[in-house]
Amino acid sequence: MKNIIKKIKPLYFILNKIRHFKIEIIFTNIHYFICLVLKKPYFGKKYGANIQSKKEREILRRLVKQVQNLKENIKCLEIGSWAGCSAVTIAETIKKSGKGGMLYCIDVWRGTDENIKITKGKVSASAIFNLFKHNVKYSGVENYIIPIQMTSDEFAEKEKDTQFDFIYIDGDHKYTQAKKDFINYFNILEIGGIMCGDDLDYFSDQIDENLAKENREKDFVTDKEGRTYHAGVTLAVKDVWNNKVGMRHSIWSIQKTKDGWIPYNYSS
Ligand SMILES: C[S@@+](CC[C@H](N)C(=O)[O-])C[C@H]1O[C@@H](n2cnc3c(N)ncnc32)[C@H](O)[C@@H]1O
Repeated sequence: MKNIIKKIKPLYFILNKIRHFKIEIIFTNIHYFICLVLKKPYFGKKYGANIQSKKEREILRRLVKQVQNLKENIKCLEIGSWAGCSAVTIAETIKKSGKGGMLYCIDVWRGTDENIKITKGKVSASAIFNLFKHNVKYSGVENYIIPIQMTSDEFAEKEKDTQFDFIYIDGDHKYTQAKKDFINYFNILEIGGIMCGDDLDYFSDQIDENLAKENREKDFVTDKEGRTYHAGVTLAVKDVWNNKVGMRHSIWSIQKTKDGWIPYNYSS
């Protein structure tokens, strides 16, 4: 009898896992389709539409409000919008303030390696762009967002003479592109404006820099302590900002000054 139980136990464990996994997939899909049919925004697990945490969204709201304290009708820019989670957060902040403003969302809507991993590469760019538009529309912020389907390089070149008050960078996290984006977009940030970016999981002095350098052109790396982080972002923050940035919940931020920049001070 003991032997039979011994044999059945792992089988039961595996079957249970499969059952939970399948049930989760079924519920995720039901939730998604209900939102589409009922015309509600969808920021659930499907397609990793819920990619931003509640705490990250709080930080974004706070940074946008900070810029709004300085002026009305702010011009905001987001590099990397995916299904619209952060874009809707920024646009809702603009809308609620009643002070006017606009958010330009720049994305190729192809996804980073991380997005492709979440979706297992089984989702087309048009499906994500459609979900983005759905979320924007049914969150009631359509009048505050202008989506622009192009690469960050193309937009930076096209708008090199424009100035923005708030810039959020959450596009390609690999070193070369992240560094390029930081530099290009700092050039079109207004003095007094705030620039911030996602996925600074650790500063360079908290990680093994050699491992990070070897993997800087990958979306993320896992070290021997089991920590997964975006090596490209960590190294670009070091090389461009000399680690002189504010950081909360993996969002780094700076404020442009006449002479350069200062780390955004969260306690102010
Ligand atoms: C991590 S997702 C953005 C998530 C989004 N900010 C949110 O919180 O919901 C990264 C996005 O950047 C876009 N992207 C990657 N490289 C890009 C590039 N060079 N130019 C424009 N968009 C890019 C991808 O298509 C993807 O949608």
